[in-house]
Amino acid sequence: MMVIEPLSEPMRLGVFASGNGSNMEAIAAAIDDGRLPAQVALCICNRPGAGVIGRADARKIPVVLLDPGTYADERAYVADLVRVLDAHRINFVALAGYLKKVPVDVVARFPGRMLNIHPALLPAFGGKGMYGRHVHEAVLEYGVRWTGVTVHLVDNEYDHGPVVLQEPVPVLPEDTAESLAARIHPVEHRLYPEALRLFATGGVRIEGRRVVIRPSEQTH
Ligand code: GRF
Repeated sequence: MMVIEPLSEPMRLGVFASGNGSNMEAIAAAIDDGRLPAQVALCICNRPGAGVIGRADARKIPVVLLDPGTYADERAYVADLVRVLDAHRINFVALAGYLKKVPVDVVARFPGRMLNIHPALLPAFGGKGMYGRHVHEAVLEYGVRWTGVTVHLVDNEYDHGPVVLQEPVPVLPEDTAESLAARIHPVEHRLYPEALRLFATGGVRIEGRRVVIRPSEQTH
């Protein structure tokens, strides 16, 4: 059993994002209205021009642009990333539409303290290359009746760590990738802050692959 010590200090979140940043925004909004006792202390982005940058700026969240492709090797990239995370005293990481794999040495620094959100019910429709509209297109092509949202712990495989929260979303006959994404996004925006709250308040423990939520914290 992996025991997750409750955070000894308030949750200082590093949000990693590559795109629009609506999940980062939802997390920040949940903090503002008292649903999540945390602070978004840093946004790590790999793509200049990503929508998340403007959103972070508007909320005065520091943004650091780090593109792994610009480093001579992974060691140099990891060193920089760790330096930035330490400088901002990040004690928890939320991947929110981050399209780069987080290096193993960085994952190892956040045991039980790094979450990802995926727009489907894992382990279906996950893995390398399964992001954004690729997920929704695969869901439609397969013909499943239900898809949904998964928040899970990050390990060293894409979309693989223990599941924290899941919520199903129906697939309707007339759906397109866009209409599905539009139905899934509001669920993501509710579920991600909720999952983070469980970790901010010490409401979970991990037994093997199972994340056990303290009954008093159970809302799903
Ligand atoms: C979300 O659908 C999330 O599940 C996936 O990437 C998307 C990010 O959306 N990992 P946004 O940038 O937060 O709007």
